[in-house]
Order: sequence, then structure tokens, then C-alpha cells
Amino acid sequence: MENDLSADFYDVVVRGGRVATASDVFVADIGIRDGKIVQLGSDLQPGRTEIDARGRVVTPGGVDAHCHLDQPSPPPVRMADDFDTGTLSAACGGTTTVIPFAAQQKGHSLVDAVQDYHRRSEGKAHVDYAFHLIVSDPTPTVLNDELPGLIKKGYTSFKVYMTYDDLKLDDGQILDVLDIAKRHGAIAMVHAENSDCIEWLTKRLEAMGRTAPRFHAHSRPMLVEREATHRAIALSELVDVPILIVHVSGREAIEQIRWGRAHGLNIFAETCPQYLFLTAEDLGIDDSYHGAKCVCSPPPRDKANQQVIWDGLKDGLFTVFSSDHAPFKFEGTEGKKPEGKEVSFRHIPNGIPGLETRMALLYSEGVLSGRISLEKFVELTATGPAKTYGLHPQKGAICIGADADLVIWDERDVVIKNANLHHDVDYTPYEGMKLKAWPAYTLLRGQVLWDGKSFVGPRNQGRFLPAGRPSVLPHPNLS
Ligand code: URP
Ligand code: ZN
Ligand code: ZN
Repeated sequence: MENDLSADFYDVVVRGGRVATASDVFVADIGIRDGKIVQLGSDLQPGRTEIDARGRVVTPGGVDAHCHLDQPSPPPVRMADDFDTGTLSAACGGTTTVIPFAAQQKGHSLVDAVQDYHRRSEGKAHVDYAFHLIVSDPTPTVLNDELPGLIKKGYTSFKVYMTYDDLKLDDGQILDVLDIAKRHGAIAMVHAENSDCIEWLTKRLEAMGRTAPRFHAHSRPMLVEREATHRAIALSELVDVPILIVHVSGREAIEQIRWGRAHGLNIFAETCPQYLFLTAEDLGIDDSYHGAKCVCSPPPRDKANQQVIWDGLKDGLFTVFSSDHAPFKFEGTEGKKPEGKEVSFRHIPNGIPGLETRMALLYSEGVLSGRISLEKFVELTATGPAKTYGLHPQKGAICIGADADLVIWDERDVVIKNANLHHDVDYTPYEGMKLKAWPAYTLLRGQVLWDGKSFVGPRNQGRFLPAGRPSVLPHPNLS
């Protein structure tokens, strides 16, 4: 085998950084060849390209395991980011792998949805990507033919919804989908909110004329999330298969997850920046329509719940920290104001942008503010999601043989301004927020994509990643 003494062995050497993994922090040079990490050590031979990381922290490139890009929406609504602008934004914020959703529409084939999503992504992505599936119509064909076939081909995670009329499944349908996950080695993600309670509350609010954006939070109080989280856990217990509860917003859902775990159940959980940095007040303290910018589901809660989420990040309750980037413009006719109109909260597209800010928000306010360790940061933003969704150790790791996806951090004062971001959304919910760090470099498979000022990498080189068996599942011989 060749070794690093041959001239020009390394394409790139990232020199002397504090390398952080999910388990350790150590000073090392990282030798990269053909897009892979091939050596970790000290005093490596010079590479054809040298990147000086001395005095800086180096982490794995971020894996954003929950984002929505170019996902078809009922007209006139349209997502602002496709694979081009979305993955550009990801790269400039330190994320090198994204996992958006190929969404089945009721009455249509899931396989067709996957093919359509490949057409939307092919040749357009600037970082690597896998797909989750959204199962909205689990017909016998979908359950018995399509899903098993897709799992074999590398689509090993799927989301089910307990709310949204065009997506939701009833409990029996969820059980059917969980059973397929169990038998074929996939992980189900659950959007846990009680649809009927939301509809009942929404009608009452509308009858009282309470239709401003802030009433979105009133229509989805934490009990609707608590009840659905408990029900999802019970369904997972019945089928005896792990599940992951997505976008957990606060204490009551967390209590249910802790309850499930205390009863020996494999319940995994994800949270997102909006539950650490926004509150229901960001949806408006009066009836201003600007609150539409922060309408997402579940809605952000209050300061006390933010603290509960921080506690869960620190103590292992969460395995995944994702953006849930769901990009809709505020102005115009296709986003938060459908057809240019200020509509009732019921009709405001749900979701907020966050792909580019996810990593820096947690690095700055988590690591540099002393709330979580560097190892925990890596676990939550890269290693945990890569393991959960069958991409590890190719992704989410700094080890020999892994893809050389890296972030080199610049610890400096930064003010978040939408004008400096690269998504195609006309606002960020974090405008004006002061951070203590931003990526100095993002590398994808050894190539610099972001140099701290602009996107400098080759475009459209993002590759599709067929996912393997999620490592959070029991060993196949035991399941
Ligand atoms: O409000 C949200 N979270 N929108 C995106 C879709 C989803 O449920 O994740
Ligand atoms: Zn959801
Ligand atoms: Zn989402």
C-alpha cells in the first residue's frame, strides 16, 4: 500500500486543527486523497493543497437530516428553495449532506414520487444528499411492493404524519407502515400532532375572528403534541419497532419520550433551532402579519421550554438536531401570502428557513456558550443523523475511510443578516442575532466549497447517497 512518504500523496492536508468527533477532541493533521480521509496524524507530508487549521476547531461536515427542498405544494404555494439554492445555502453554513423528502401524494405511487424527486435533484445539488420518503397513502401496493423495494434500493427512512389533511394517516395506517419498517429494516419518523384537536381549535378561533398568524400557536398547544407523541410511542410499542419523533418542541412531548424510554422502548427524537431560539411571541404579540414568518408546526413555545430543549440536547434525549428548513417567501404570491393575500393562519404555509444557520447557531450558543460539549455538537449535527439514517461512517465522521467532509470553524463575531445568506427566501427568523462563530471553510469530499466569504467550490457535484440500514435499529438477526 502506498504511504504518505510518496511525493504528492495527499491531495489536501488540513493541518494542525483541533479535530472534534462525537467521542474525542484531539490535535491532528488530516490527510485527504480522492475525496476520502486517508490519514490522521502529526507532521504529515505536504499535500498538493494545504489548509492551515492551527488554533481552529475542525468538525465533520453537517448532516441536516430534515429539510424540505423543491417539495411539491398545492398551488399557488411553492417552496422557495430547490436543490440548487438549498444546497448552496447548506454548504455556506457548514452542511455537506442533506436529507430532504420524496413525498407521495395521496392517490399516487411512492415510486413515482421518488423518480420525480430524482429529476428535481439530479445535477443540481452542491452537497451530497439522500432521500427520506413521506408515506401519505399506504395502499397494499405501497406496503407490499413499493416500500420493500425502495428500502432495498437505499431509501431506509420514511416520515408519517398525524396531521395535515393531504398527508395524515390514521392509527391503523401508521401501524401498517411501522410493520413494514420492522420487517424490512427501516426507521419511521413521526410528525406527532393531534389533527382533530387542531381542527376543532382552529374552527373555534376562526368563529371568534382570531385568524392572525399568532393564533396558529393557539391552535396547536402543547397538549396536541403531547397526546400524539404518546400515541406514536404506543403504536411503536405495539409493533415493537423503534421510531423517531421529529421536531420536538418542548416539555410535554419530552416527558412522553422519557416515559417511553423508561419503559424500555427505542424512541428517538429530533429537535430544531426554532425551539431553542424562537418563542410563540415571534408569531406576533399583536395581529401583525409579520408573525407569518415564524409559522411552523409544532409552533415555538416559551423561554422555559427552550431550556427544557437545551437540557434534552445535553443529556442524550435528542439524537438529531435538524433545521426542518421549509422555505417559503414572505412577500410575493407563492409563499406566506398565497396569491399575495394576508390569509387566515390556517392557510399560511407551515415552515421556516434554517439550513444555513443551523450549524452556527448551535456551535455559537451551544458550544461557545458552555451549554453543550464539542463532542455533543458533533453527535447532534453530524454523527447522530448519519447513524440514524444509515449514512455512517461515510458521512458524519472524521476517521480513515470517511468522506472528507469537514468544517473548519472561525470563532469571530457574526451578525445574522438575510442579505448574507444564500437561500432564496426573503427573510431569516434570526435577523440581527449575534453569533460567536461561522464556518471558515466547508469541504465536501476534500474540495473547498465555502471559504468564509463565498461559495468557491465546483457546482452541481452533489451525489445521491443510497442509505444503508439505520444503525439505531436492532441487529437484523435480532429483529
Ligand atoms: O412547519 C413545518 N414543520 N413545516 C415543514 C413540514 C413538517 O411538518 O416538517
Ligand atoms: Zn413535520
Ligand atoms: Zn419538516
